[in-house]
Parts: sequence; C-alpha cells; structure tokens
Amino acid sequence: MGRVQGKVAIVTGAAKGIGAATAAVLAREGAKIVCTDLDEQGGQAVADEIANAGGEAIFKRHDVVDESQWEAAVVLAEERFGGLHILVNNAGIAPEGGPIEEKTLASWRRTIEIDLDSVFLGCKHGIRTIKKHTSKGGAGGSIINISSILGLVGQPNASDYNAAKGGVRLLTKSAALECAEAGYNIRVNSVHPGYIDTPLVRDALNRGVVQGQAVGPNEMRELLIMLHPVGRLGIAEEIANAVLFLSSEESSFMTGSELVADGGYTSR
Ligand SMILES: NC(=O)c1ccc[n+]([C@@H]2O[C@H](COP(=O)([O-])OP(=O)(O)OC[C@H]3O[C@@H](n4cnc5c(N)ncnc54)[C@H](O)[C@@H]3O)[C@@H](O)[C@H]2O)c1
Repeated sequence: MGRVQGKVAIVTGAAKGIGAATAAVLAREGAKIVCTDLDEQGGQAVADEIANAGGEAIFKRHDVVDESQWEAAVVLAEERFGGLHILVNNAGIAPEGGPIEEKTLASWRRTIEIDLDSVFLGCKHGIRTIKKHTSKGGAGGSIINISSILGLVGQPNASDYNAAKGGVRLLTKSAALECAEAGYNIRVNSVHPGYIDTPLVRDALNRGVVQGQAVGPNEMRELLIMLHPVGRLGIAEEIANAVLFLSSEESSFMTGSELVADGGYTSR
C-alpha cells in the first residue's frame, strides 16, 4: 500500500526539476498524476516514464497564469481519474536579478504573475474541486505550495522573487485557515527549498543572475554551496519527499505550516 494510494494529484511544472521528481515520487506511492507544464515534450516524457514504471500519469499542457486552463486541468483530473485530492503548485521561474532601482515594472509583474498569481489560481480551483472529493473523517485533501528559502529571508537583487515567494507563504496560511474554518478537510502547506540542483538553478547560474552574480557559474556554484551548512546543494528528490509527506496522511495535523528543506541555509 503506497503512502498516497488511490489519490489523484495535479503537479504543475512537472516537465523537469522538482516537479518531475515530485510526480514520480507521488506515482511510486500510489497516486494517479496529472502532470502539467508549458513544456509539452518534457511533460509527456515524465508521464511516459511514470507509466513505464507501472504508475498512472497523463500530461496536460497548462499555463499556470491562465485561469481557463486551470478550469480545464481540474476537470481533466476528475474525468480521467475520478477526482482530485492533491495539488502541488510547483511551476515557477527564476527571474533576472537586479536592484530595485533598475527593475522594470513589466519584469516585476511577470515574476509576480508566474510565481504568485499562479498559486492563487491553483488554490482557488484546487479548493473548489478537492472539496467535492474529500469528506470529514474520510481521506483528506492536500495542497502544497512550493515557496523558497527566499520566501522566508531576503536577498539583494531578488525583490520580485522575494515578494512572490513571501506572498506564497502567507497565501498558504490564509487558504489553510479558510479550508479549516469551512470544514473542508483540505490541508494547505508551503515548502521552502534551499538551492536545489535543477535546470532552474543551472540556467540561472549560466545566465549570471544568482545573488547579483559577479563571478562565473562554477565559482558562483561553489559560493552557493558554502551558504548551505551541509556543504552541498539539494537534489530534486529531497524536495519531492517533503511534498510526499505533506500529501500523505502522515502529516494529518499539519496545515498552514512551512516545511523548510534547505540544508541548514536559514538556520545560521
Ligand atoms: N531549484 C531551486 O533551487 C529552488 C529553490 C527554491 C524554490 N524553488 C521553486 O521550486 C519550483 C520548481 O523549481 P525547479 O528548480 O524545479 O525549476 P525548473 O525550471 O527546473 O522547472 C520548472 C518548471 O516549471 C515550468 N513552468 C514555468 N513557467 C510555467 C507556466 N507559466 N506554466 C506552466 N509551467 C511553467 C517550466 O517549464 C519547468 O518545467 C519553482 O516554483 C521554484 O521557484 C526552486
């Protein structure tokens, strides 16, 4: 019996990185997965890999900033798999870094739209749908919002990302309280990864946008490693395991909480 056996999950940004690892781990533990992403080839490959490993998964192209596409995604979960119990709001971007004085309003808005508005839309359509498939005393629903250590602590040249991820942290608590007070049996929690070795971090290092990066990618990577007391970056599966815990009934008394998985980054 898997830890999320028989549940149906939507994982956004599932084509690579943390989303791909999360989809695979939830499927391994018995959930049926709707993998969504803008990247059709990558997302389909992840769904195929899950199916080849004996799990159940489908892919849907889904832009998380488009409300009508959220409506279609939750309907697909119900039609193909008979319900929805778990939503992982994972899709996100690492924006160009830079001081507030030089940031354009357009780039600020783009980060807020992709990294925060999307989570609002996910919570809205997730709660509306999940509440139909959970009941008090029965199997519960779980929404997991991927924030960041940068939703907990500030970083220069990351004002838009800090604001979006900090917004995800408190949006999560508001949603958790609404669900609890309405008696929906849906828990809502945020996850706060440190730097994880995914395409997002590798691309950001290569673009030179990490922490106002003034050095080359390899040197910057070493500097990032030094910020993590455990002496390394995280791997996607380590965040997927945190999401699995919050998805399962093992975390049944957790809602509105912040699960930090950062190799000690924020403990200093
Ligand atoms: N990697 C890290 O160090 C780290 C640390 C803290 C938080 N996070 C957060 O974790 C999440 C996943 O990060 P990752 O490192 O796996 O990133 P990634 O770039 O490896 O993967 C992100 C995925 O999201 C998809 N995506 C982007 N915009 C989208 C949109 N509008 N609609 C649908 N899909 C979209 C991309 O196509 C990609 O497949 C993000 O929210 C990120 O902010 C990552």
